[in-house]
Amino acid sequence: MKVLFEDSGFPLLDYELLLEEIDYKNLLKPSVMPFTELPSEEYLLKIMKVVERLQERFVSLVVVGMGGSSRGAKALHQAVGKENSRLFFLDNIDPDLLSKVLKQIDWDKTAFAFISKSGKTLETVSLMNVILEELVRRELPVAERVVFVGDRGNPFNKLADELGAPFLEIPKEIGGRFSVFTAVGLLPAYFAGYNVTRFLEGAYKLLETPLSAFYLAASKYLHYKSGRDISIVMPYSTYMNEFTEWYAQLWAESLGKDGQGQTPLKAIGTSSQHSILQLFVDGPDDKFYQLFFVNSRTSDVKLPDEAKVLPYIGGKTLGEVMRAEFEGTLYALRQKNRPVVRFELSRLSEYQMGYLFMAYMVAVVVMAKLMGVNPYGQPAVEIGKRYARELLEEGRDGGLSQ
Ligand code: PA5
Repeated sequence: MKVLFEDSGFPLLDYELLLEEIDYKNLLKPSVMPFTELPSEEYLLKIMKVVERLQERFVSLVVVGMGGSSRGAKALHQAVGKENSRLFFLDNIDPDLLSKVLKQIDWDKTAFAFISKSGKTLETVSLMNVILEELVRRELPVAERVVFVGDRGNPFNKLADELGAPFLEIPKEIGGRFSVFTAVGLLPAYFAGYNVTRFLEGAYKLLETPLSAFYLAASKYLHYKSGRDISIVMPYSTYMNEFTEWYAQLWAESLGKDGQGQTPLKAIGTSSQHSILQLFVDGPDDKFYQLFFVNSRTSDVKLPDEAKVLPYIGGKTLGEVMRAEFEGTLYALRQKNRPVVRFELSRLSEYQMGYLFMAYMVAVVVMAKLMGVNPYGQPAVEIGKRYARELLEEGRDGGLSQ
């Protein structure tokens, strides 16, 4: 993967000086970034064993988990799997979504992964209760078709033991949105048949040569400090939409603290060129742009040599048209001196996704160091969670319903 900084305003020397200030060479270690300790053989074997057992009987897996407990796997699945229908995700408590998924699945051939680090997340626990009850109602043996993932000793661990179902542990130090390289991401990945070895190799590659992640953080920080507090992520691929969701969570929850933060804004090329690009190019200069292009597509489509209406597209592939539009966006941004980082992915593969996930996790911790905030935890989210719990406990409605 190529990472190219088209970074108006700041020379590389500024990045280096800034990074020296936080002693960046000493940051890439498990005590600062626990997620850089990639899984051991033994840990991988445990996951594989559980997956093999599930695969003997089931063709689909419903992953039930919120935020960091599902977004990474969902992004990998969309990018690499495209139309692979082995995984479903329940990551919202929306009753319509639940009803739709539960109607759609073949209950005899479907297993369920309940993923929650805390084992107490309201949405995950609610959905799990509905599903467990439905399994009993359908007289389907529960223990053989469910697996729980979470912190050792959490309520999911206890429930798994009670039910005699498998439990996979998330290493204690690794938080939700940083957990894609644990059972949280790897269980669904193995189940769907993705190449987990290549996925991890992508992450290793970043760790071996991490400079682009450090520069990414330095660049984003310098622009943040000069008033660019919106951070755009715009892949030119429909299949990276879930990646933008994963990124938005990582950037928002890790940095949005103590009155600081850089607001993530998601867009998709080329679709968003017909909606928000005008604002990007000619609106306020308060944004940092991250653009992604996938060079080789699984399938490309050639236009007829004699194209109707627009003769200049004749004989071109859709990939070439997309590339031209991507270059057009870059050109327009350059004309306005907007700061851009461009990622050129050879293709959408496990390796490239592993690299990207690791690059952004490293970058967000470095950025947090520069900003002086703690990248881990999301204390403000607790305020609303506590209130919702109180409402449910007291049987009140909060006074908002009419
Ligand atoms: O990044 C995080 O820590 C959060 O987004 C969590 O992943 C999310 O709240 C779900 O928590 P849990 O895994 O405890 O159910």
